[in-house]
Amino acid sequence: MGKMKKIDWSNLGFDYMKTDLRYISRWKDGKWDDGELVEDNKLSISEASTALHYGQQCFEGLKAYSTKDGKVQLFRPDENAKRMQESCKRILMPEVPVDKFIDACKQVVKANIDYVPPYGHGATLYLRPFVIGVGDTVGVKPAPEYIFCIFCIPVGAYFKGGMAPVNFTVSDYDRAAPFGTGKAKVGGNYAASLQAHEEAVKKGFADCIYLDPATHTKIEEVGAANFFGITKDDKFVTPNSSSILPSITKYSLMYLAENYLKMQVEERDVYIDKLDEFKEAGACGTAAVITPIGGIDYKDELHVFYSEAEVGPVTKKLYETLCGIQFGEIEGPEGWIVEV
Ligand SMILES: Cc1ncc(COP(=O)(O)O)c(C=O)c1O
Repeated sequence: MGKMKKIDWSNLGFDYMKTDLRYISRWKDGKWDDGELVEDNKLSISEASTALHYGQQCFEGLKAYSTKDGKVQLFRPDENAKRMQESCKRILMPEVPVDKFIDACKQVVKANIDYVPPYGHGATLYLRPFVIGVGDTVGVKPAPEYIFCIFCIPVGAYFKGGMAPVNFTVSDYDRAAPFGTGKAKVGGNYAASLQAHEEAVKKGFADCIYLDPATHTKIEEVGAANFFGITKDDKFVTPNSSSILPSITKYSLMYLAENYLKMQVEERDVYIDKLDEFKEAGACGTAAVITPIGGIDYKDELHVFYSEAEVGPVTKKLYETLCGIQFGEIEGPEGWIVEV
């Protein structure tokens, strides 16, 4: 590893920092250019860009991990590439080929290798790919040109003093409509979540739970993460809905629950008034891997799962297994790890 930056790897949060180089590729006249690494962290775009007015943009989030033996690796970047293609398709943006996406991720990690946290701090290099519609258009229609970028920042371990459960409240707001853009990682979904999040935090909760927009009876998302519950007979259960973002962490945990922990796995409806079926629950996503859910506040009653203070054993085992694979301590399924 090159000359180290003066970064306190143990005390990183999730904050923007200008790292050395970022990748940028432009789409024009029907094709992407080769892309390049640039120092400038400012984009200059037309004031009429569709990304600014009509939310024609999408993004991704994935991490690079340092292993004990000094390697740097990405976790399932092909899945992020494919999800970004789905997001692009949904809002009529050109897709970035999977190979181009993975190659760009590798370029960014290599170009900022001094910012990759060394093994042992739980810290990682977070990559933020995004596609935006740009160019001179004013009407509501797809942009004439697009930009695909990836920048990176070192981020800290989510849980510094060990995994700790947090409580969530159920929101009256919806983040996405039943046949809307909930399945796509587009900015509009996140703009729609800001107020709900802020109100939940003001009430003293970590974030809010969104119910299905049509009936408000089933759990959809937990803030910007997917929900899972462990039933009293040890099944891994997670909601199935067309308006949930397909979490790569969630699908990875489902695979590990079934194949490594020999649990039954179910993707199906999870009713907010039937939380008693679960002995443990968690929220999963790239940022925290798993956030144990202490309790859920619904209609002014707090339903506690395992404990408000301690993480349950199945949740802990799932967390350790997935982190072990990501940091190269445990052999993962074929194709999950891509060395940089
Ligand atoms: C709304 C939402 N749900 C779920 C997730 C978790 O997805 P992943 O596990 O792919 O990070 C994210 C984060 O990307 C998200 O923004």
